[in-house]
Amino acid sequence: MIRAVFVTGACVNTGVAIVEKFAEEGCNVVFSGRNADKVAEAKQRYEKKFPSVKIFGYALSSLTGSGEVDEKSLDEMFADLDENGIFIDTLVLNAADQGLNMKIFENPLSDFTRVVGANVFWNYAICERAALRMKQNGGGSITFINSNTAYRAIPDRIAYETSKGAQLGMMRGLALDLGKYGIRVNAVLPGMIITDRWEKNPDFYKSVPSRYTPLGSVATGRDVADAVWYFAAHAANTTGAELVVDGGNTIQLYPIIPKE
Ligand SMILES: NC(=O)c1ccc[n+]([C@@H]2O[C@H](COP(=O)([O-])OP(=O)(O)OC[C@H]3O[C@@H](n4cnc5c(N)ncnc54)[C@H](OP(=O)(O)O)[C@@H]3O)[C@@H](O)[C@H]2O)c1
Repeated sequence: MIRAVFVTGACVNTGVAIVEKFAEEGCNVVFSGRNADKVAEAKQRYEKKFPSVKIFGYALSSLTGSGEVDEKSLDEMFADLDENGIFIDTLVLNAADQGLNMKIFENPLSDFTRVVGANVFWNYAICERAALRMKQNGGGSITFINSNTAYRAIPDRIAYETSKGAQLGMMRGLALDLGKYGIRVNAVLPGMIITDRWEKNPDFYKSVPSRYTPLGSVATGRDVADAVWYFAAHAANTTGAELVVDGGNTIQLYPIIPKE
């Protein structure tokens, strides 16, 4: 049996950092993205960088055209893993529909259900299939990449905030129901993470870190990956827990006002 971590949405940004952390630690990796070409490219990059671990990439869409969870793609992926003797002992739910610019009086309801569909229902469907195999194989670890927006709102992101709040309820429910099978379920709550969006909008992001976070810095993908690694590799007696990785942003009430 080949044991592996499964990281969703890992062709770009934080997902890449999580894959790289686990691969550096010697773990085999299964990862997904929605676009087959991007998945093939990422697989090649990972294989070149980490020749001593096995890398498996799958193109997975989260929802069908009518907005239902695409269970067929998921079942095909898990059937393929089973056939090849690959057991996902660690699941990292990183992919998310960011639900940007969602205006209450402008966006149709279908935009809201799309975001919640991907971030909540689809993630639940992945957990269900992965947890069944973990139960059969003596346990495992599931980590949600959540967000501090589960607690503190930002403008025009209602569906996203709803989905991240719901994920925490789901995380606790799964932790309770799966604990008896040796499956631990936890969440990492980043604040802002440096991604390619920073490079595209440098002026917007320039002023953000120091005024809104006690540490004056913003998380890198590696900071998030280290927190995931903690849950996966070091937190044997921890389940249902939240680890905030936001430079202290959540505990700060007002922006820091510059002295001059
Ligand atoms: N960036 C931040 O500042 C920040 C802050 C707090 C929390 N987070 C959380 O951290 C995680 C990673 O963030 P990120 O900024 O690195 O993510 P990202 O670059 O916005 O997206 C990560 C992946 O999610 C996939 N994805 C997007 N919409 C999807 C959908 N509807 N169905 C399935 N997959 C979808 C994309 O896959 P494709 O490659 O197929 O497009 C993408 O590669 C997310 O859970 C996010 O909510 C991020």
